[in-house]
Amino acid sequence: TKMFGLLVALLFVLAGCGQPRLSVLHPAGEVADKQFFLLMLSIGIMLLVIVVVVLIFLFAMIKFRRKKLGEDFEPKDVEGNHKLELVWTIIPVILLIILAIPTVMLTFSLGDTKAIDKVDEKGKSKELVIDVTANLYWWEFSYPNEKIVTSQELVVPTDKKVYFRLHSADVKHSFWVPAVGGKMDTNVEGINKFYLKFDDKKAKDVKNLFYGKCAELCGPSHALMDFKVKALPKDDFDKWVKDMKSVDKPVAATSSQAKEGEKVFNKSCAGCHAVTPTGEGAKGPNLTNFGDRELIAGYLNHDEKNLKKWIKDPESIKPGNKMAGKYKVSDEDIDALSAYLMERKVDK
Ligand code: CUA
Repeated sequence: TKMFGLLVALLFVLAGCGQPRLSVLHPAGEVADKQFFLLMLSIGIMLLVIVVVVLIFLFAMIKFRRKKLGEDFEPKDVEGNHKLELVWTIIPVILLIILAIPTVMLTFSLGDTKAIDKVDEKGKSKELVIDVTANLYWWEFSYPNEKIVTSQELVVPTDKKVYFRLHSADVKHSFWVPAVGGKMDTNVEGINKFYLKFDDKKAKDVKNLFYGKCAELCGPSHALMDFKVKALPKDDFDKWVKDMKSVDKPVAATSSQAKEGEKVFNKSCAGCHAVTPTGEGAKGPNLTNFGDRELIAGYLNHDEKNLKKWIKDPESIKPGNKMAGKYKVSDEDIDALSAYLMERKVDK
């Protein structure tokens, strides 16, 4: 029983229970609330069925158990019972209908993204739209109206519908912010659309930071394909957009080491990475606001030690990622690069 208890505890830890930034059981927005309702409804119905079946089973076990010697009797031969058959067909049908109606209604209402197509005279959608591109093993978030691109850390306003258009650059991934809603596949062909709404109060409870996941097995580093969501009050979000846009060219390096790093960056990294808000011409993650991030490579603490480890040997941190084995940089250059990258900040 001790082992069993441990296993259950482990299961809860693995399921992310008690982690409000990640848990489906701590819904933090309109979509998550509705999905939570469906979850509870189906669990409720299942529990009801289990309890009733187990009770009938126990009743039959006890009532028809082996009799004492001398009490033996031949049970009656029963062949079919229309009444009983009708009852055990109709009850499940009713339960399925109870489950199906809200499921179908919610599925359609949560997938309603018609609002995106309403555009003003300049062809701009009035809604906040974010184009999500999933890559092996990182995420790109592009804001077409605001003309900014960021990676790994999604920034959204609270208490407002945020519309997502999901797409993949390589294989099938799935976009999921468990505490706020989802998940939905990102495909190479076609675009999937849905929206999420981040509750302002619930966001404050978790210091405005939620965890996102790739929810489709996509390769050796699938489990490491995490992202963060900064859900900010509208004013803070607007300020972030302004700050991002204001970086119309790379922020100048200040320290002499960072200046050295800039040269290394331009020589070795700029082919894939951009440090401008639109990230033009970049195939890899946009690093404009790298210094403001919460994590390195999506899951390591954001400090220079981890950054250097990541640049030196990306394969050991995220097996199968596309930066691995592409180039060799000396330890000296890595120190300079780290200094330069840590200075990439837009948060003023
Ligand atoms: Cu991407 Cu799993």
